Amino acid sequence: MNDSSGSNAMWGGRFAAGPDAIMEAINASIGFDRRLAAQDIEASRAHAAMLGATGIVSVSDAETIREGLLTVLSEIEAGAFPFSAALEDIHMNVESRLKALIGEPAGRLHTARSRNDQVATDFRLWVRGQCDAAIAGLTALMRALVVQAEAGAGLVMPGFTHLQVAQPVTWGHHMLAYVEMLDRDRGRFADARARMNESPLGAAALAGTSFPIDRDATAAALGFDRPMANSLDAVSDRDFALEFLAAASICATHLSRFAEELVIWSSAQFRFVVFSDRFSTGSSIMPQKKNPDAAELVRAKVGRITGALVALLTVMKGLPLAYSKDMQEDKEQVFDAADALMLALAAMEGMVRDLAPNEAALRAAAASGFSTATDLADWLVRSLGLPFREAHHVTGTLVRRAEERGVDLPDLTLEEMQAAHPGISAEVYRVLGVDNSVASRASYGGTAPVRVRAQVRRWQEALA
Ligand code: ARG
Repeated sequence: MNDSSGSNAMWGGRFAAGPDAIMEAINASIGFDRRLAAQDIEASRAHAAMLGATGIVSVSDAETIREGLLTVLSEIEAGAFPFSAALEDIHMNVESRLKALIGEPAGRLHTARSRNDQVATDFRLWVRGQCDAAIAGLTALMRALVVQAEAGAGLVMPGFTHLQVAQPVTWGHHMLAYVEMLDRDRGRFADARARMNESPLGAAALAGTSFPIDRDATAAALGFDRPMANSLDAVSDRDFALEFLAAASICATHLSRFAEELVIWSSAQFRFVVFSDRFSTGSSIMPQKKNPDAAELVRAKVGRITGALVALLTVMKGLPLAYSKDMQEDKEQVFDAADALMLALAAMEGMVRDLAPNEAALRAAAASGFSTATDLADWLVRSLGLPFREAHHVTGTLVRRAEERGVDLPDLTLEEMQAAHPGISAEVYRVLGVDNSVASRASYGGTAPVRVRAQVRRWQEALA
């Protein structure tokens, strides 16, 4: 909306001419901050109610403003809103439309307020909502993992270190490892949410206002715990967005690791899992292919999410107090990262719900690579009283013997065993089985099915 000189009607008083087209292009944020429309109108309605209640504007003007804002919101929701780049951002687009709808009272809405506390408030509300959405998405994924864990509490699979078979573990234990990680992610979003839940509204441009506003009232109306205590801080920090992005980056890193495992496990070389058709794609040239595209994309999403964190940290670094326009660059990063995270969480949940572990392949792989060698060494310590170092050495000679013969440890004869240590008895064959191996690891936090079932019950209750 331009006046006769072509300058902006919201701040054009001191301007004789309108902006260059390039100026408008670099300055306008309406192309993306329209996503804050609902929050902007919610905050403006709270501000207007407070202006009426404190007598800063008349109650009837306040009501007219509040009603008019609802009309604007319904126009935006209906996709019928004429967004204008000349009006720069969502705040001025909404106010300008309000003016067209209700006339003179619209000009009173911006009393005791600035776009600086306005955008800080809108954005906090938006990011707060995304913390809730992330927690909900994480909870749904955790539930899916617990279903897998319960079904596979006793399902034996190889545990890896260095991606080399190390010791047998259980499928349920592996699933619950991610449940623990994702629960800490939930905690990070909850912590960030609690810390960001203070209201910047009423900080005005940077110094507060000379009007007798009631910041407690607007804070309460918007679900904030309290108003922020320092107006300079309120308009100039974006640490709440950084915390959201940091939590999102760590969460996306967890998802990426799991996605990588699913990609490996679904390969023809492993065949540990089968993806449902719903979460796989085909190849346009190779008819036999079934590709884990969803898992690959979850693996990749961390790139843009962590990229957003680094981008916003870099924008904020070195900015003097209070508001600078640099901070307009906060939003696209957060929007993009939040979209990517929510999609990754939903895709992961779908994949996990449909995931079919290949029991035979997992069991066979669990027994490969001399995976029960540690069980043998432990048995030598327990039954023969050998020092662990000596037991390690005896087991090592047996592994080498088996390797030379191209067999697994249980395939060695008792004579071969006794050649390594005369005290070894036939009882040794029992400890070389993978089921015995996992059942024996019943220390707290261990992989034994009995432990896994107890943890499954704990999580079922926690997530009920
Ligand atoms: N579009 C702006 C932003 O996103 C709103 C605040 C503008 N404030 C100002 N003093 N120009 O940061």
